[in-house]
Amino acid sequence: MKTKNRKFIFISLFAILFIAAAAFDFAQGSLRNQNESRPAKRNAVTNSDSSASSGTKPAKGPVLIVYFSRAGENDSNSNIRIGNTHWIANFIADKTKGDKYEIVPAVPYPKSYQKTLDRAESEQQRGARPKIKNKLPDIRRYGTIFLGYPIWWSELPMVVRTFMDSVDLNGKTVIPFSTNGGSGWADSLPIIRHAYPRAHFLRGFEIEGDQASHARKQVDRWLDGIGY
Ligand SMILES: Cc1cc2nc3c(=O)[nH]c(=O)nc-3n(C[C@H](O)[C@H](O)[C@H](O)COP(=O)(O)O)c2cc1C
Repeated sequence: MKTKNRKFIFISLFAILFIAAAAFDFAQGSLRNQNESRPAKRNAVTNSDSSASSGTKPAKGPVLIVYFSRAGENDSNSNIRIGNTHWIANFIADKTKGDKYEIVPAVPYPKSYQKTLDRAESEQQRGARPKIKNKLPDIRRYGTIFLGYPIWWSELPMVVRTFMDSVDLNGKTVIPFSTNGGSGWADSLPIIRHAYPRAHFLRGFEIEGDQASHARKQVDRWLDGIGY
């Protein structure tokens, strides 16, 4: 074989190898992106990606359970007396013996599910901060804050954002918990992390709302797992 031909074959082989490697790298990258854009995997106990964010482990300190929850007509067409997230807050309080603080909106949300959907959608679109009726907690007394909310339009209810604007949880151990109609955490966790860049986050808990009232064991297992 002539030297010119050998050179040509060698260059062609090299080019094929190069293209194959680039294609493999591209495929890996798009797979990674796909996984990142997928909603958080749903599983009541191992379901959180709200893992620790700071290197030093702060003391647990006394526990406060902050939550917002709405009773009344809900998505399964039933009328509930105790909100789904409220149930989870109660289970956490029973096990940790922490204090509870309920975020109560100054203007209550309607009993009607549809009217609540409409109001919540408009509040979210406007970036509203609905007023809170009750006095805010004295956060200096606590080391660990559990923060609970239902998923509303894939995010946190705006009244919870009012709370987050008013109470600085940086430096605290923050543990989210949430109930939903099937969308898992949806887009809620990055919002909390962004609000408190210097908080120490621990693995949270989310569950579908219609399972919340009988989730005591799952809650206990989760709390055992994170040392509470
Ligand atoms: C205004 C509104 C918006 C909602 N948006 C969602 C949503 O985007 N994804 C979802 O899975 N569930 C959604 N749901 C269902 C609630 O998250 C679910 O019923 C939750 O358990 C209610 O909790 P609560 O009883 O503590 O208020 C929505 C409910 C309401 C009232």
